Amino acid sequence: MNNLPASIQQKVCDYYTDKVLTFGETPKGVDWNSRQSQELRFDQLLKICDQDIDFSLNDFGCGYGYLFEYMQQKNLKFRYAGFDLSEEMIQRSRKRYASANNCQFFSGSDFSDIADYTVASGILNVKLHHSDVDWEQYALNTIHKLNDSSQKGFAFNVLTRYSDKEYMRADLYYADPCFYFDYCKRNFSRNVALLHDYGLYEFTMLVRKI
Ligand SMILES: C[S@@+](CC[C@H](N)C(=O)[O-])C[C@H]1O[C@@H](n2cnc3c(N)ncnc32)[C@H](O)[C@@H]1O
Repeated sequence: MNNLPASIQQKVCDYYTDKVLTFGETPKGVDWNSRQSQELRFDQLLKICDQDIDFSLNDFGCGYGYLFEYMQQKNLKFRYAGFDLSEEMIQRSRKRYASANNCQFFSGSDFSDIADYTVASGILNVKLHHSDVDWEQYALNTIHKLNDSSQKGFAFNVLTRYSDKEYMRADLYYADPCFYFDYCKRNFSRNVALLHDYGLYEFTMLVRKI
């Protein structure tokens, strides 16, 4: 499975559109448990950026764009582009940040914009009925896109295989962090960091290209 078949892509899109329609522009509206965990994820992903200088950032699977707001609150100097499968998410993002002049939002699964950095929070977790083998192919293909769209580096998170069995769900994908670390080292850069020390049932990979 090199790309998500259109029918499955629609199901993933419907899954998240339903979340935001039910819970609104809140952490639960993008399927997270709390604001604290949503921001904790951002803190890990943003470690990829050299925050001392202006930078551009792609946010792949941006939801309602809360990362943009979080970065503004931190007074970072940046240009932001958010992408999401869900048109509903993108409409809400555009409305929410209509007065900002350093962000843009695009709907769809493909993006060709190249930025200094690309981050992706939570786009590899919900596999629905796919097998692990098929989803792994899709995940690797997606990670190649993150690489292609970033000049200085990229970062993503995935649920970890080191989760407690009793909490694991059949429709979610639990990745082997060592496999993804090795894959990133061999395919993208010698400078890769695996963060698995921040208390959530997931890990974050940072791939530094320069
Ligand atoms: C778990 S939510 C997280 C949203 C946001 N990153 C955050 O942390 O607030 C994942 C988002 O990624 C989007 N998404 C999932 N797969 C995608 C894909 N292949 N291309 C673009 N967006 C995708 C979903 O529509 C959803 O809004």
